This record gives sequence, structure tokens and C-alpha cells, in this order.
Amino acid sequence: MRVGVVGAGTMGAGIAQTFAMAGHDVTMVDVGAAQLERGMKSIDASLAKLDEKRKLGAPAREIASRIRTATDVSVLKDAELVVEAAFEDPKVKGQLFADLDRVTAKDVILASNTSSIPIDGLASRTGRPDRVAGMHFMNPVPIMQLVEVVRGPRTSDETLRTIVDLARALGKTPVVSADRPGFIANRVLMPMINEAFLALDEKVGSAEDIDTVMTLGMNHPIGPLRLADLIGLDVCVAVMEVLERGLGDKKYAPAPNLRDLVSAGRLGRKSGRGVYDYATATVPEKAPEKATA
Ligand SMILES: NC(=O)c1ccc[n+]([C@@H]2O[C@H](COP(=O)([O-])OP(=O)(O)OC[C@H]3O[C@@H](n4cnc5c(N)ncnc54)[C@H](O)[C@@H]3O)[C@@H](O)[C@H]2O)c1
Repeated sequence: MRVGVVGAGTMGAGIAQTFAMAGHDVTMVDVGAAQLERGMKSIDASLAKLDEKRKLGAPAREIASRIRTATDVSVLKDAELVVEAAFEDPKVKGQLFADLDRVTAKDVILASNTSSIPIDGLASRTGRPDRVAGMHFMNPVPIMQLVEVVRGPRTSDETLRTIVDLARALGKTPVVSADRPGFIANRVLMPMINEAFLALDEKVGSAEDIDTVMTLGMNHPIGPLRLADLIGLDVCVAVMEVLERGLGDKKYAPAPNLRDLVSAGRLGRKSGRGVYDYATATVPEKAPEKATA
């Protein structure tokens, strides 16, 4: 299948790689050569790691050669499926869906990897709302098993079936979610993380205590506060705001101490400091490798 992937960031590169590993021809589009180069570098590094572990069905170079890059979505005119993974911004995604609708054949499915933006809003920007759905991969895409398939109110049965079958063919486990704020993943995960911040603020326990209760007591592979650092505290605030607004309930308001860390520029691992300090001895000994949002 000829697959278009829009966005060559953390998720776009992972999605392009995953489709290429399953034998598809991929065209990855981003706004500039630098973004595409960075994306291809991360794909090469990930393929090399998987190759070392003998987890590739073909030579890494052959898989990478299935991915072409471009800086304009107009090259996607022959695509048979497009997965959009650009910035989590309704304006950016809305414009992209309008452009993709103009560029691609009318029967092509346009999927979004959005974590929280309503699918029906994106569908409204196209003349094919029945062929728009969410295909929400988890980070890192080549490793994580789940794909949350989001069914908008106008997504057709055929579109849903196609995306579900495709996710299975990629070796993933699809779960269908309704087009409700946060879908399933963030509706359940983010309030737990937010509650951990509220408990921290009330001094119910230290950050280490809270994380240890959830790892050793609940068998979570990583505590909620470390996970928040991995996801990015700014992303956590943004998703809680989507839940608060979308569900109209103050109980989803981002925790004040979470907001404070973001205002102070402490965004988590990506900024070197969040709940934990990654430049000092409080770095977790075994750095967790998985995040999701
Ligand atoms: N990072 C995660 O853990 C995670 C997990 C699941 C879903 N998501 C979702 O995936 C999407 C991408 O997230 P990310 O973490 O990869 O972001 P990112 O910032 O790493 O990458 C986004 C890329 O999109 C590109 N882009 C922006 N506007 C574009 C346009 N008009 N045309 C083409 N490319 C454009 C940017 O240049 C950038 O390279 C978001 O919707 C996010 O919510 C992220």
C-alpha cells in the first residue's frame, strides 16, 4: 500500500517506520528538510537497534529505502492512506485535513494520530467525513502494542474495519474508542497523573513515595510522576484542559503544582527537569523508555 505520513517528529517517524517494516511504501512529509532529516535519523537509529535484537524481517537498509520524504503534501496525490501526525494544534491539523482532502483521491482514508483533538472536527474540514478516523499510536510506535482507533460520529463501518485490519496487519492490537475527549487512553491515564500531582501537593507522600506505591503496589511499569516527566508536563496540562473543557467538569482542572512546573519551564525529561531533576542524582537509575499520550 502507498501510505502518506504527515509529520516527521517523534510519532510521524515512528509511524513511517512501522508501515515500512510491514512492507508498505511510505512518503513522509514535513515542513522542511531539517525536520525530515531528523526524522530519518531517528528511524535509522531505531532500525539499527531492532536489527541488533534480530527483530526485523528484512535488512534495515531495505526497510529505510521504502520511505521517501517530501516537503509538500501535494506529493500524496497517489497515496492510498494518509496518517497525519503533525503538531497537536486544531488549526494546523484542520488546515492539513482541508489540504489532504483536496490533494488525495476521494476514496482515500485520512487518519489522524491526534491524542485529544475531536475527530469529527477534522472530518468537517473534508468532503469525506465517512473516511476520517483516529489512528492513535503510542510512543515509541515500533515497540508499543496498542493502536487506539477513534470512530467519529460520521466514520463509516468500512473505514473503521479498514483501520482495525490495518493495525492488526502492522502487528498491533487495535481498540476502538468513541470520539469523546481524551478517547480511552488519556481519559483514564491523565486524571490518574493529575491526581498524583494533587496528592504530591497535599504532601500525602513524596514524589518517590507516590511512584513507588504505583509501581510496586499496582504493578505499573513506571510511576505516574515519572511518566508525566516522560510525556512532558506541558502535554499533560494541555490534555487535562481538553478533558475539563470537553467534559465540562472542574474535576479535570490541571493540578496547580503541575501548572506551576510548566510556567517555570520545568517540562520533564525533555527540558532536563520536571518533577525530577535529570541533571543530578535524582535521575532514575534505569531510565524508563516508554511514554504515551
Ligand atoms: N509524543 C507522544 O508521545 C505522542 C503519543 C501519541 C500521539 N501523539 C500525537 O502525535 C502528533 C505528533 O506528535 P509528536 O510528538 O510527533 O510531535 P513532534 O513535535 O515531535 O512532531 C510534529 C512534526 O509535525 C511537523 N509539522 C507541523 N506542522 C506541519 C504541517 N503543516 N505539515 C507537515 N508537517 C508539519 C513538525 O515540523 C514536526 O516535525 C500529535 O498530534 C500528538 O498529540 C504524540
